[in-house]
Amino acid sequence: METKVIRMEDRAPVDPSLLSEAAQILRSGGLVGFPTETVYGLGGNALDPGASKKIYAAKGRPSDNPLIVHISRMEELPPLVTEIPETARKLAAAYWPGPMTMILNKSALVPHETSGGLETVAVRMPSDPIANAMIRLAGVPVAAPSANTSGRPSPTTAQHVLEDLGGKIEMIIDGGPVQVGVESTIIDLTEEQPTLLRPGAVTVPMLEKILGPVRLDPVLTKPLGPGIHPKAPGMKYRHYAPRADMILVDGTREQVVSEIRRRAEEAIAAGKKVGIIASEETRGSYSAGDVRSVGTRADEATVAHNLFAVLRQFDADGVDIIYSEAFPDDGIGLAVMNRMNKAAGHHHLRIARDGTETETGGNR
Ligand code: TXA
Ligand code: MG
Repeated sequence: METKVIRMEDRAPVDPSLLSEAAQILRSGGLVGFPTETVYGLGGNALDPGASKKIYAAKGRPSDNPLIVHISRMEELPPLVTEIPETARKLAAAYWPGPMTMILNKSALVPHETSGGLETVAVRMPSDPIANAMIRLAGVPVAAPSANTSGRPSPTTAQHVLEDLGGKIEMIIDGGPVQVGVESTIIDLTEEQPTLLRPGAVTVPMLEKILGPVRLDPVLTKPLGPGIHPKAPGMKYRHYAPRADMILVDGTREQVVSEIRRRAEEAIAAGKKVGIIASEETRGSYSAGDVRSVGTRADEATVAHNLFAVLRQFDADGVDIIYSEAFPDDGIGLAVMNRMNKAAGHHHLRIARDGTETETGGNR
């Protein structure tokens, strides 16, 4: 199949005539790659089991991994769920449209193909004007996982979508680079206590301001092991993964830089192609290897914005091993470190103040 690419990099105002073809494709059961404020999505009609099956096939994704249903306005929510708890109303008022997904009990309207067999459904109202206008024009809720091949880093540009899904889907809307760069925050509201299933740009303090205490799903802090079962089925897969092995190095700035320098030189001497994930503040401290700054420590949102593109560049460069600086895990840093940990298969090197090193994970 030939994938038609339409260019809308000039984001606002969105010209609806350009989107009517995308809306028509969605209504007739086809697939469209489109920008959202978080990452690019691979959209299909959420109410059409056939469209959901096509999404799984195009991504090469296991069909027990449920899809997020995207809506364009509040009136589209009630038909999808059995009830809207007060917590959901409050969160929606505070953070929709925006980078937040809520898990609610699904109605019979949502097919099991879309919910991955679950009785719950993930719903999100994106703020991106192209996404919003496209969903509204389609007149159906849009199921959309990230528009990457399963197992690769999520796409933050239309070019990434084309690399992974070109020839497999009807259309890609190029809206330029996304704003946030990591996928939406997922909060489960189906149990007594609200539970964070995936950290994102709507941070824990932002959620707690509205909800009070939020529980963190145990998989967010620990590698998967016996007895640890993620509530978001997708969190059990090795997502966001570059092709190279990746090791996260944590310690004081000086310790991290000198350890990465030493290991990079060793690996290069052993004939390996080395990538280094640095920050604006440290990039100049490395002399060997393929050094890339992922953003500035002064504003971790910049790291979220660039992370997946940097991982994809290392793939394209054929790097064998990536040494990455670790970042603080507060605010959006929790989302950054969650994605970095997954990319590294939880391979971590921690250097204590006294120089003692602890290496964990690494056999993914
Ligand atoms: O930012 C985003 O959320 C992007 C853009 C396109 O909107 N979408 C996205 O979708 O990241 P995806 O499919 O790559 O990730 C969806 C995650 C998976 O980990 C999945 O397991 C979880 O949401 N999920 C979906 N429905 C769920 C449910 N009913 N209960 C628990 N987790 C669910
Ligand atoms: Mg994904």
